[in-house]
Amino acid sequence: MKMLDIEQLTKYFNRGTPSEVVALDHVSLAMEEKEFLVIIGSNGSGKTTLLNLIAGNHFADAGSLSIQNIDVTSQPDYARSKWIARVFQDPLKGTAPDLSILENFRLASLRTKSKSLRTGINQLFRKRVQELVSVLNLGLENKLDTLVGKLSGGQRQALTLLMATMDQPKLLLLDEPTAALDPRSSAVVMELANRIITVQQLTAILVTHNLKQALDYGSRLIMMDSGQIKRDFQQIEKSTLQLADMQQWFYESAAV
Ligand SMILES: Nc1ncnc2c1ncn2[C@@H]1O[C@H](COP(=O)(O)OP(=O)(O)OP(=O)(O)O)[C@@H](O)[C@H]1O
Ligand SMILES: [Mg+2]
Repeated sequence: MKMLDIEQLTKYFNRGTPSEVVALDHVSLAMEEKEFLVIIGSNGSGKTTLLNLIAGNHFADAGSLSIQNIDVTSQPDYARSKWIARVFQDPLKGTAPDLSILENFRLASLRTKSKSLRTGINQLFRKRVQELVSVLNLGLENKLDTLVGKLSGGQRQALTLLMATMDQPKLLLLDEPTAALDPRSSAVVMELANRIITVQQLTAILVTHNLKQALDYGSRLIMMDSGQIKRDFQQIEKSTLQLADMQQWFYESAAV
């Protein structure tokens, strides 16, 4: 069974006005279960729009979108949130700064209705979060009552990833999750993401402008340009790609 089946998906912004844009132009994309797809492409090529349509934050003007053979084209985001976990570029988006680490996990568990964490903030819950957070090796397991606003961007992104994946989502969407992080934090968060995706056997989509990441991670690579998928490489082909080739594609693409 396909995890994701997108057919001829089209999305306009400001349709019928002088500022009309075709953000997605008849995009078709099928993803198998456990596939880890990396998307690259110039600014404005439609990457985030594609994720927004998959998550149900925006609706398509034409085309269809199915998740595990269920047509969700017109389903709102909240109806899909039980399947889809998302991490954004901005570390501030994924966590609540005025709440402690523990309280953030509590909120996340309510959102995803995590069976393992459904209880209140009792000792069991604290122990479970401690275990989860200790895999980060950032020492945060001893700081569960610290306000998340006091943590670094890298620490926050790492926590966001843990919270997003603690209830085994069907689909994990990562939109430039390390773009705001320094190189070391970026490597830590990317390694964590890769480990979670591998261990939990998740189907995942990573959007990145970091071409080294695009080479190193994932089982498939696509390049978007002007709202279309212009290149599509499966694992074997992907593994032969060179950084210089990929850089060259950006100079050949139409978007400025
Ligand atoms: N809410 C919106 N209203 C109007 N236009 C939008 C909106 N969201 C996106 N667009 C336009 O749609 C096109 C695709 O944008 P999108 O954000 O999907 O690009 P992207 O590939 O994610 O770019 P980036 O690499 O900069 O994140 C762009 O021309 C953008 O200006
Ligand atoms: Mg984007």
